[in-house]
Amino acid sequence: MPHKLITLAAQRLRAGGVVAFPTETVYGLGADARNENAVLRVFEIKGRPADHPLIVHLAEAGQASAWAAEITEPARRLMARFWPGPLTLVLPARDDVPRVVTGGQDSVALRVPNHPLALALLREFSGANGDAHGGGLAAPSANRFGAVSPTEARHVRAAFGTQVDQVLDGGPCRFGLESTIVSLLDERPRVLRPGVLPLSALREVLGEDGIEHSASSDSAAPATLRVPGALAAHYAPATPLEIHTIDALADRATTLLDQGLRIAVLRRNRNLRSQGLPPALPQFLLPARVEPYARSLYARLRELDRFAFDCVLVEAPPVDETWWAVNDRLARAAAQWPPRVPLAELTRASHWRIP
Ligand code: TXA
Ligand code: MG
Repeated sequence: MPHKLITLAAQRLRAGGVVAFPTETVYGLGADARNENAVLRVFEIKGRPADHPLIVHLAEAGQASAWAAEITEPARRLMARFWPGPLTLVLPARDDVPRVVTGGQDSVALRVPNHPLALALLREFSGANGDAHGGGLAAPSANRFGAVSPTEARHVRAAFGTQVDQVLDGGPCRFGLESTIVSLLDERPRVLRPGVLPLSALREVLGEDGIEHSASSDSAAPATLRVPGALAAHYAPATPLEIHTIDALADRATTLLDQGLRIAVLRRNRNLRSQGLPPALPQFLLPARVEPYARSLYARLRELDRFAFDCVLVEAPPVDETWWAVNDRLARAAAQWPPRVPLAELTRASHWRIP
């Protein structure tokens, strides 16, 4: 990408504009975190409720002290080890941090993304702002509120068109799932949102018992998140999803097909035979391993929406720690099912979609 485009983007941000940019996780919708009107525009464009706080993105860890009132010892260690990277830290906010960014709270979420374009943009933006500003870009994921996060520039353009001043195109995101959010507000660091950075990595720095989390090993839908504004049906595609173990897929598919519904199956690609699935059933595949699965999940869900299936049956991934973030997002994507329209209603002619 020509540096001119980055310079232009930084200028627009300083003038109160809204610029979408790639990170290693998902695309963000950025605005000057010290400019209340610019941040309000982000909320408006996204359709996001005002009490959902935004992450402030920084060019380097040294800028954190312009935003956080206190940087605790575990925070320091996490920054040193994982920034730039897919880890967001929630810290007590300085008084001068606009509360529009923090959703009215006295804490602020900070992250240094690990993406050359994002870092170039953040450096250019902060370079011209002076040290007191702290260089922060408030940036939520660049999707409409409640929808799945964008992992490619075209997803951002499709959602927002000319509502944003510029979209920096960095190609598909390397990880495709959001950052891990850790709160340092209490004595013990706590995972607020599972994400790309695994628990095992956090434990390496904080010790085996050094991190609190609600990962459960016995449920396919483990996390009840305590992130403010984390709604059950976040990250949801337009298509109703159901999650089933591979053994239960065939029965469920038969039941729904018997009701006259147009359905499909989304499976992990493990070269298994069809597991007794009805022969004419459309099957979509995701990679078997967790990293490529996570990388393509959101794009796959968007693609499936184009078919307007009545329901997509998703093969449940393994329930273990490495799949925690994926299982969390899948559970949220499926949380609206039973759908807004009950199944019995769906089978009435008025709700049928003409293919
Ligand atoms: O990977 C990511 O984190 C992406 C990229 C663009 O950086 N960003 C992202 O932002 O996912 P967003 O706005 O979609 O999600 C941010 C989450 C929200 O769930 C919000 O509640 C939480 O961060 N958050 C922000 N500030 C917080 C705070 N002060 N306390 C607790 N949670 C906070
Ligand atoms: Mg989001």
